[in-house]
Amino acid sequence: MLVLGIESSCDETGIALYDSAAGLLSHALYSQVAMHAEYGGVVPELASRDHIRRVVPLLREALSKAGRSLTDVGAVAYTRGPGLAGALLVGCAFAEALALALDKPTIPVHHLEGHLLSPLLSSDPPTFPFVALLVSGGHTQLMRVDGVGEYELLGETLDDAAGEAFDKSGKLLGLPYPGGALLSKLAVQGKPEVYKLPRPMLHSGDLNFSFSGLKTAVLMLVREQGDDLSDEFKANAARAFQEAMVEVLLKKSLMALKQTGLKQLVVAGGVGANQQLRSTLNNEAKRKHFRVYYPELEFCTDNGAMIALAGCLRLQSGTPAKEAGQFAIQPRWPLMEMSTKGCT
Ligand code: KG4
Ligand code: ZN
Repeated sequence: MLVLGIESSCDETGIALYDSAAGLLSHALYSQVAMHAEYGGVVPELASRDHIRRVVPLLREALSKAGRSLTDVGAVAYTRGPGLAGALLVGCAFAEALALALDKPTIPVHHLEGHLLSPLLSSDPPTFPFVALLVSGGHTQLMRVDGVGEYELLGETLDDAAGEAFDKSGKLLGLPYPGGALLSKLAVQGKPEVYKLPRPMLHSGDLNFSFSGLKTAVLMLVREQGDDLSDEFKANAARAFQEAMVEVLLKKSLMALKQTGLKQLVVAGGVGANQQLRSTLNNEAKRKHFRVYYPELEFCTDNGAMIALAGCLRLQSGTPAKEAGQFAIQPRWPLMEMSTKGCT
């Protein structure tokens, strides 16, 4: 079965075609980052308007790259939530209307389930069960994943998400939105341990996180410098922030592996693109004999491929597709509502 996947939950429009037998056939993506950078963050109204502009050209691009036509599509998967309401409505309305016209069913997909399963798109995928560290702009969670829809929440952030802390700290250091990737580039030029920032909840004994204090520590550091931030200061502060973040994510992931007794760690979501996080986890994996899996870099941040994949896996695991034509989005939607397992 050929599944068309549509992602529009935030500031990326993604369209992909995933075949249940042949795998990912094509994907097309448009990022609105440059548009929102002017405002220092995502402007929801502008995001929705831009999704509408991009969705048809991207669909044409994905179909042409795969050498398929719309009549080959067996089901239309789309992000139902969580995300920005207006942005989600564009993807939902487009997907439901298209499926109605094609007389095909739809599969509403949870955005985080897409991230969680995205490493399965790579040529050397993990096998169930595994521990997943989900680190995106809006979420930070550790989960035990036993199969599609079999998730157990092990721990999560009590305030800011990891990506949010990256972006806000980047902004404090004068970087444009979204600061995460730029902050990590700056950190490479910084010297280690010039500043020592707090490692929040490192010794809390549980698998929860808290990052708002770390961001505040960056703010205090910036204030101490006065009005003029030197390039050297910015690089050293970026380095200090990243070191604190990576240490917390590493220690909590190790605790989750120990607690579950599992030997596979999957890192998904935008912060999973961070090179220092990757090299630290890879080194530790060699030392402690576990394996770390990441989605391909292009599938770390939001994309349509993970939505098409999640839709297809949902169908294969017995979730029935839905009759097209009901427009339902869920801007707030805990992933655990999609799980057959409860919280710990
Ligand atoms: O998963 P994602 O694309 O969107 C959400 O679902 O939230 O994640 C976006 C987040 C942003 O906060 C961005 O700054 C962060 O991922 N990010 C990074 C890097 N690349 C993207 N954070 C740290 N280092 C990176 N290289
Ligand atoms: Zn995302």
